[in-house]
Amino acid sequence: MIHSPLLQVSDLCVQFGAFTAVNPVSFDLNEGETLGLVGESGSGKSSLARAILRLVPATGVVLWKSENILACSHQRLRRLRRDLSIIFQDPLASLNPRMQVGDLLAEPLHIFEPALSHNERQRRILKMLDRVGLHANMLTQYPHEFSGGQCQRIGVARAMMLQPQLLVCDEPVSSLDVSIQGQIVNLLVDLQIEFNTAMLFISHNMAVVRHISDRVLVMYRGQLVESASCDTLFAAPVHPYTRALLAAVPVIGATAARPSAML
Ligand SMILES: Nc1ncnc2c1ncn2[C@@H]1O[C@H](COP(=O)(O)OP(=O)(O)OP(=O)(O)O)[C@@H](O)[C@H]1O
Ligand SMILES: [Mg+2]
Repeated sequence: MIHSPLLQVSDLCVQFGAFTAVNPVSFDLNEGETLGLVGESGSGKSSLARAILRLVPATGVVLWKSENILACSHQRLRRLRRDLSIIFQDPLASLNPRMQVGDLLAEPLHIFEPALSHNERQRRILKMLDRVGLHANMLTQYPHEFSGGQCQRIGVARAMMLQPQLLVCDEPVSSLDVSIQGQIVNLLVDLQIEFNTAMLFISHNMAVVRHISDRVLVMYRGQLVESASCDTLFAAPVHPYTRALLAAVPVIGATAARPSAML
């Protein structure tokens, strides 16, 4: 696949009062590419992801197709958000409990494509609902009526409604049953390929990261300690912290492998 630069992050820092959550971090993300982001709890992964979308205050430069997201006007930022989407860890908490599924999916269309006719809007909602494996009769139901996996399908549908060019996934399957995790990951990857969406995928699950990433970033205490292609990172990790992370992953077939907190 031919990639072209989409996102260029330079010297990104996130500060919460006197505490530095993200030290100067720089990396690129190409069109359609999946970038895995790993690191222990508290290493700054969510802060980094949110800073890119300007959801937390940050310094540095986040170039989106040559435009600095951190410096553009609020009006411009609202327009750019059409192409920038995010999925959070807790599917139920990230959906407005007072909105029916149909309204949750209609909202991005109302905001970014207000000129759409009612029929066209309904057509797109039903198409996406079907695409994520939900039924049309669920349109009038509320989030609390669904299982965790179904809620995350709604989250995926909402995030992908406008076919964004960047999707940030902040541990999108961590709160789900292991049996459901694979289904949601596969759904995300299918839609990503269909829409050629670039993905920043945060996860503690190294097996999932290995499965879906083109490249992987490793964070440790707010810093980027390693950045490599997926194959290189897993075959020959350079930084001691990356080695420690990988050592915690059980090897399939190994007799002495112990269950790990990472999986
Ligand atoms: N809004 C905030 N105010 C103050 N400190 C914060 C805030 N958000 C995050 N932090 C702190 O910043 C550090 C990095 O947090 P962050 O949530 O980015 O880590 P993480 O790598 O996503 O962790 P996890 O794997 O547990 O989700 C942590 O020490 C956290 O306590
Ligand atoms: Mg986090």
